[in-house]
Amino acid sequence: MILETYLKNNNKNLHQMHLITGIPETTVRDINKRDLSKWSLSYYDAIAKTVGKDRSVIMQELEDLKKSQSHSPIFGKYNLENRRYIGNKNKLLNWIADLINENTDGATFFDVFAGTGVVTKKMLEKYDSFIINDFLFSNHIIYKAFFGKETYNVNKLKSLQNQYNGIINNYSDDEYFSKNFGGKFFSINDAKKIGEIRTLIEKDNSLNQREKDILIASLLYSVDKIANTVGHYDAYRKKTILKDKFVFELINPIQTSNKNIKIFRKDANELVRNVTADIAFIDPPYNSRQYSRFYHVLEGIAKWNKPKLEGIAMKPPVENMSEYSRSAAPQVFDDLIQNLNVKYIVVTYNNTYNSKSSSSKNKITHNEILNSLNKVGKTKSFEMPFQFFNAGKTNLMDHKEFVFITEVR
Ligand SMILES: C[S@@+](CC[C@H](N)C(=O)[O-])C[C@H]1O[C@@H](n2cnc3c(N)ncnc32)[C@H](O)[C@@H]1O
Repeated sequence: MILETYLKNNNKNLHQMHLITGIPETTVRDINKRDLSKWSLSYYDAIAKTVGKDRSVIMQELEDLKKSQSHSPIFGKYNLENRRYIGNKNKLLNWIADLINENTDGATFFDVFAGTGVVTKKMLEKYDSFIINDFLFSNHIIYKAFFGKETYNVNKLKSLQNQYNGIINNYSDDEYFSKNFGGKFFSINDAKKIGEIRTLIEKDNSLNQREKDILIASLLYSVDKIANTVGHYDAYRKKTILKDKFVFELINPIQTSNKNIKIFRKDANELVRNVTADIAFIDPPYNSRQYSRFYHVLEGIAKWNKPKLEGIAMKPPVENMSEYSRSAAPQVFDDLIQNLNVKYIVVTYNNTYNSKSSSSKNKITHNEILNSLNKVGKTKSFEMPFQFFNAGKTNLMDHKEFVFITEVR
């Protein structure tokens, strides 16, 4: 199925390949089923025509994709990218990776505001050392689960998965989760099950830290899959009947044994003063939406400290409020750039500052970003080429993506 994945990464699909090349769709689907080693050169030429790249580039990218796929011991359902997260760079990964490859050099990659972690995953083949950071508790557990080094027992995890999916009544749990979120973000039964599973993980002394992290991350992905939201937890959809939908599925950790990976849960401006790297990837929030508020339900599951919750969306007391989402954002960004100990700074930015809704208006302007970057080195600016969006639903008129790459003096 590597062809399908490769085309998807390039914003194309099997049907489009058939239309562009004239190869019958059944043949295209047949190629998709065959191992890469059995492909003829004409297949690569057909892909070249479909995605608009050279045959040699395609051959290399497919080999890399094959390697990265073999890195994941597939035993679960969810891969790192299978979650909903505002501002994730999933759709821009190839473009960003190409720009980083062409315009920087080094061996250490620092994902300063890592979010889902998909940018680090994309760059995994390229570097030996990584620093991954985000101040959210849920993201921190997810990185430790996917990128960690400690061994884990797959059979034990699978057997716990079966046990969790067989839960009918709550025996261990105090129903904190279902009392707060049942009938809102989840059906009452699903909320009870989620609370019971989280409690069982918490109390299970037979698990090592990695197994705990994998189980909690799996719970976070499984919860996110069925939550009654539009993708974040600022509000829930007001429906009368919520169906029971929850299924506990495992994640697929990434094989990282030959890599040096450091994981942090720190404020970015504090962390940059204490680490060095070759390339820093900077993707902060740019509008007033606070991630800790938007993902509070996941944060609560990760921390499991059961605070008193308030409001319609049942939010906890405030914590991890980002200065990047407030009016001081330009100064905080400038401070970050001034204090990075790196050779290259890669910054992503989009132009939603013209947005009509005030919560999605940018707190930092294009010029403020460039001024800060120009103080520390020579900056190249890249704008997302039009064709990268032509398979998506993005409104082209209102949306422009930029990448700035600064070679630090
Ligand atoms: C735009 S998202 C990053 C998306 C990520 N590149 C991806 O592809 O998934 C910004 C991230 O910055 C984190 N964040 C915001 N302010 C922060 C701060 N001061 N220190 C550390 N992380 C912060 C948020 O939790 C959020 O995950």
